Amino acid sequence: MLTSVKIEVRECRPPDDCAVPELPSDVVNVWARSLDVPASVEKACCELLSMEEHERAARYRVERPRKDFIVTRATLRSLAAAYLGTTPLQLSFRYSKYGKPILDGAFDLRSLDLGFNDLRFNDLRFNVSHTEGLALIAFVRTHEIGIDVERIRPQPDVRKLAERFFSLHERHSLERLSGDELQAAFFRCWTRKEAYVKARGEGLSLPLQQFDVSVAADESQALLATRPDPSEASRWILRDLPTGPGYEAALAVAAVGDGKAGQGNTSSLVQVE
Ligand SMILES: CC(C)(COP(=O)(O)OP(=O)(O)OC[C@H]1O[C@@H](n2cnc3c(N)ncnc32)[C@H](O)[C@@H]1OP(=O)(O)O)[C@@H](O)C(=O)NCCC(=O)NCCS
Repeated sequence: MLTSVKIEVRECRPPDDCAVPELPSDVVNVWARSLDVPASVEKACCELLSMEEHERAARYRVERPRKDFIVTRATLRSLAAAYLGTTPLQLSFRYSKYGKPILDGAFDLRSLDLGFNDLRFNDLRFNVSHTEGLALIAFVRTHEIGIDVERIRPQPDVRKLAERFFSLHERHSLERLSGDELQAAFFRCWTRKEAYVKARGEGLSLPLQQFDVSVAADESQALLATRPDPSEASRWILRDLPTGPGYEAALAVAAVGDGKAGQGNTSSLVQVE
């Protein structure tokens, strides 16, 4: 169980630059990748994709999301391969019932030399989020993880969106805010909720009213309450990530490793460094 976690945020530019650091068990590496890349980089990224990913890219009718998918997926492949001491095209992914990608166990690194991290494919967990111009990719050992980044665009209908997606507690917290403060709190709440949903990996089958996040800035533990099981809240670390201006981002990571979040009974709230 993680009693504390250190989150390190770095920039990267795969496919040219993807040197990764060691990944100790209490560290989360978050990689920021600009998606504003020239056509030559997009082409190089394309070459790292599998046949299935090429087919998926071809299904995007609009250029921007197609390019975002290609660059983000190539970055994910490059970084994951660097952690595992292999090459991007050697990796394959499978998808949970709700679409969360995970490294496919059919590729067994036990027959290969392990990378300097001594990491096996089934120990490496990741999650990806992309928005206009920016992708974030988080890696950790054995712990379920979720990440979300959003471009901050003034939302004229914040209160309506809050009514639709936020819990009663969250809506009450937003009620006393207005103007820029309201906008900032809205995006904090949104990204925190989304990061938690993505860490759980259950998509929108996880009712958004069944948990409360804080809307206040600088929270070291933003998951305030979970229902119907109140102890679930202490099994997750949920906090904001530093990003460039114009973006809001959050990360959720399970305190208990090996997919046991939500199963074990971890008594104390985790600390975040
Ligand atoms: C599928 C979902 C992850 C989409 O999220 P999103 O904000 O549109 O997109 P993001 O860029 O953050 O994440 C997309 C990435 O998450 C990953 N992903 C897909 N399904 C996932 C799931 N069930 N759980 C975790 N990660 C998932 C994929 O890597 C995907 O990228 P890729 O398709 O390029 O590989 C899902 O959470 C969803 O549908 N959310 C709905 C949004 C909503 O109503 N939010 C309310 C929040 S208050």
